[in-house]
Amino acid sequence: MSTSNFKIIADETTQPSKFNFNNENLAKAKKILKMYPNNFKESSIMPLLSMAQSQNDGWLPKKAIEYVSNFIEVPEIKVLEIATFYSMYNLSPVGKFHIEICTTTPCMLRGSDSMLNLCKKKFGLKVGEQTKDGQFSLGQVECLGACVNAPVVKINENYYEDLDSESLNKLLDNITMNKKIRIGPQSKRKGSEPIK
Ligand code: FES
Repeated sequence: MSTSNFKIIADETTQPSKFNFNNENLAKAKKILKMYPNNFKESSIMPLLSMAQSQNDGWLPKKAIEYVSNFIEVPEIKVLEIATFYSMYNLSPVGKFHIEICTTTPCMLRGSDSMLNLCKKKFGLKVGEQTKDGQFSLGQVECLGACVNAPVVKINENYYEDLDSESLNKLLDNITMNKKIRIGPQSKRKGSEPIK
């Protein structure tokens, strides 16, 4: 079950009146569509939704769902089903830095609860909220598929792994100060090789 709290469809005052792919994304979308036979066009829904979300500051307005549905000529409900099922799609606005903490068992056993509490306290947020300045938002998600490097936090498109509260706090401070941050494991390892 997804626990993402950005699944509530944004109210009408927040919804833009239109959505179209920009030229670059339109060219990419046409290429993606060509990868699938006509009777399997639905398979392109996920990459198209991801592109629409990136273009729209990290969330999918209703017009983007409608646009993707028209673009590949499948019923809108099929696109909405996917957008509502997967935690990686947000149906309401998120912060410039959208923090998603995995709290499934391997991450939980390695301290994800204290990392979640750290973020709540640091930014004064509950899960599903964003800071008033629009910089940070906080989500709680199921397994991000990188359990071997637990605990794992996703910020926007990137994974940060082998964390603890201290290293996560430092990472968030560096983001706040616009400093360069290392993507991936925050330990000495490069990938998922055993820690010596
Ligand atoms: S349980 Fe957290 S990445 Fe799998």
